[in-house]
Amino acid sequence: MSDFQQLSRSVAGLTAFITGAASGMGRATAHVFAAEGANVAVTDFSMEGAAAVAAEIAAQGGKARAWALDVSHRDTINDVIKECATHFGGLDIVINNAGISVSRPIDSDDYEAAWDKAITVMLTAHPRVVRAALPYLRKSKSPRIVNIASTEALGATATFSPYSAAKGGVVGWTRSLAVELGREGITVNCICPGPITTGMTARIQDEQKQIYAKRRTALGRYGAPEEVAHMTLSLCLPAASFLTGAIIPVDGGLMARNA
Ligand code: NAI
Repeated sequence: MSDFQQLSRSVAGLTAFITGAASGMGRATAHVFAAEGANVAVTDFSMEGAAAVAAEIAAQGGKARAWALDVSHRDTINDVIKECATHFGGLDIVINNAGISVSRPIDSDDYEAAWDKAITVMLTAHPRVVRAALPYLRKSKSPRIVNIASTEALGATATFSPYSAAKGGVVGWTRSLAVELGREGITVNCICPGPITTGMTARIQDEQKQIYAKRRTALGRYGAPEEVAHMTLSLCLPAASFLTGAIIPVDGGLMARNA
């Protein structure tokens, strides 16, 4: 019988780069990775928000630094990734998380503007981040990419077509990149969160949330951002080295439920 292979279940000392980390799932992910000993690059459109999260992490003894990063700006992406890798001495994990809610009926006058915004922030940004990070990921012992899509990539809600198109694109892009980078040991996976209590869903009234979750999910409730963050962490463990190209719903059973 062959020896049992010990695979590492620790991200301690690895560096994780997270977009949209000032709020919701990005913030929870930054906290979870820092608590496990990773260096965390907390990036967000809002520097104030990113700095607040980095300060929360530092107050708990974690290692984090904040950067202002609007993912719709290619040059800023390149600059921030370079600064992050220089600051922490490398880059091992990329989490494409930043997102916005975009709902527009197909015949609205500003449909094309909404489409462009959704695609730029939630699809075009991803390859830009990965292309900038690739030279550093190639030097990592445990390179990981996780993309946050949505169950709106797997099913759909009326008027959310720009959002669904962007998230559906992320699913296809994840699979293709996983195949392209697999031989280099770089894993690329995608999480499709269901309804999660974050800044994005803050405007939905609690009663409406409960009605929806009871009707649609198996667990009968909204999820917490930490519940998604822990799946992201699992995908980034060195031991998760044979999992790539996976599209994983973290949705309380929403996609599994028919009635
Ligand atoms: P959130 O609103 O709490 O956090 C999103 C963060 O992204 C914010 O801090 C915001 O400032 C940042 N952001 C927005 N545009 C940006 C830009 N151009 N550049 C950099 N940062 C930017 O929302 P949540 O829910 O935590 O969203 C995280 C991801 O999860 C998004 O991709 C979202 O589409 C996805 N998602 C959310 C679901 C939910 O129910 N909350 C369900 C499925 C997917």
